[in-house]
Amino acid sequence: MQILEAMQKRRCVRKFNDETPNKEQIEAVLEAGFLAPAVFTTKDAIFSVITDKNLFKTLDEAALKRFAPLLENMGMSAKTTLYDAPVYIIISGKLATSVPPECVGATLANIHANTYWAAGSIMQNMQLRATSLGLSSCLINSVVVTLLNEPELKKLAKIPDDYSPLCSIVLGKSDETPESNAPKSEHYKVIYA
Ligand SMILES: Cc1cc2nc3c(=O)[nH]c(=O)nc-3n(C[C@H](O)[C@H](O)[C@H](O)COP(=O)(O)O)c2cc1C
Repeated sequence: MQILEAMQKRRCVRKFNDETPNKEQIEAVLEAGFLAPAVFTTKDAIFSVITDKNLFKTLDEAALKRFAPLLENMGMSAKTTLYDAPVYIIISGKLATSVPPECVGATLANIHANTYWAAGSIMQNMQLRATSLGLSSCLINSVVVTLLNEPELKKLAKIPDDYSPLCSIVLGKSDETPESNAPKSEHYKVIYA
């Protein structure tokens, strides 16, 4: 699939069937993440690939408790935050606690923004690759925030103490074929300078 077609077909899907992506497909999606630009804060990122049903349930229930009201406000399903997908991938990185000496001139806020920027690139590569392989996916913030605030859940997910979950995605197969994306030109303004 060409890159433009993958961008058009990339949608967040929230209904998965019982089919599980195979090992090669999961590895292809991870490889796409590894192809993303990396800054020093994401060079030692951890990709957690979660398939354990019990862990899924624990993370889902914790996130649901925290986010049910918000999901309802947004008109999304308030029954699950991970949509019973078979695979859940979390990217975690080390968030700097002070400006490293080699980054003189930067601010801590900028270093954190760069970390999330790089993690977003990883995520985008992974979602586009998943689309090109015929997999369905959804970006997931709710569990990331839950993990950030509940250290015992981070332990269960084997994320080291000094790492912060940055972004995440569920993967699977779906019987739904959502409408392709059209450019959302009305959302944006372009200024040529
Ligand atoms: C940073 C980010 C976080 C998101 N977190 C969630 C989430 O926690 N749960 C969810 O169902 N969708 C989540 N989404 C998906 C958005 O709702 C979705 O991308 C948006 O509605 C546009 O739809 P599309 O991706 O199909 O084009 C997230 C998207 C982004 C960009």
